[in-house]
Amino acid sequence: MKPKRILVIGSSNTDMTVKAHKLPSPGETVLGGSFSMGYGGKGANQAIAAKRLGGDVSFVCKVGRDSFGEMSLAKYRSEGLDISGILYSGRPSGVALITVDASAENSIVVASGANADVTVQDMRDLAPVIAASSILLLQLEIPLDAVVEAARIAYGAGVYVVLNPAPACGKSLPEELYRYVSLIIPNETEISLLTGICADSVDSAHTAALRLRSRGARSVIVTLGSKGSLVCGDGSVELVPARKVDAVDTTAAGDTFCGALCVALSEGRGIAESVRFATAASSLSVTRIGALDSIPFRAEVNAIA
Ligand code: ATP
Ligand code: RIB
Repeated sequence: MKPKRILVIGSSNTDMTVKAHKLPSPGETVLGGSFSMGYGGKGANQAIAAKRLGGDVSFVCKVGRDSFGEMSLAKYRSEGLDISGILYSGRPSGVALITVDASAENSIVVASGANADVTVQDMRDLAPVIAASSILLLQLEIPLDAVVEAARIAYGAGVYVVLNPAPACGKSLPEELYRYVSLIIPNETEISLLTGICADSVDSAHTAALRLRSRGARSVIVTLGSKGSLVCGDGSVELVPARKVDAVDTTAAGDTFCGALCVALSEGRGIAESVRFATAASSLSVTRIGALDSIPFRAEVNAIA
């Protein structure tokens, strides 16, 4: 059976990554190691993850009319993504400055540029495309009012809405957004900020997940890094452990997880089974450096799943 269409609306960045022994503290300069430039942005990473893992994927993002934007679009086309809904801005394309330390942790600063120009009207113009998809996957690297509008349109059309509330924005989300969301996938930091509950253990993550369900999200998956993920649905809760791997760079682990999860859902698998597929895919991504460059292909995941 043909997989159902996945629409990703989100950010496109060029990532500039430096490896360093440690992340700098405020005011500190550290001498780093190797530098690399690659493709990134949470929207792009999730769309490419879904495509490489076998999904039928369309991606909508906004880029500037500059070389970074053109290179990104060429890359998306070469990966086979449908980018017919691409949007342009007068601002420069998005850029992310990333530092990765010796334990694979990262810190990221994003210059949003064109990503910050996605508007509510853009989403209204996309309404037929949104309504024609089966799954809509959203993140928070484009303006929140546009995210809410896309989710509202999708909900009204009976589309399954998946929200990865990343990056952690430090403020609460509009209550109506939870009502439109079929599945929300925060990490520990994001769910702690969204609920005010410090989700630093499986039990506290469960309590926080129930809080999001009480706001209207039908299912919640809390990603817990090397501990795995907690799946909280209607009366059910399950901890799916992470795979044991030698992690070198966790950038885009969450993005790979979200893209993979949507592919498995689009193939008709249940949430728990989809989480196992996403866990396998993200375990491969943390063994490689980079964002988009670290995302595995379907055959690689099938070989270990
Ligand atoms: P990031 O922002 O770094 O892209 P995230 O914080 O959104 O990631 P995480 O919770 O760190 O997301 O990771 C998502 C999933 O990736 C985890 O649920 C787990 O399955 C896998 N993962 C992350 N880190 C590791 C690791 N060190 N070893 C194995 N699997 C990992
Ligand atoms: O989730 C990883 C992504 O976050 C990077 O690719 C970077 O562009 C930032 O948006």
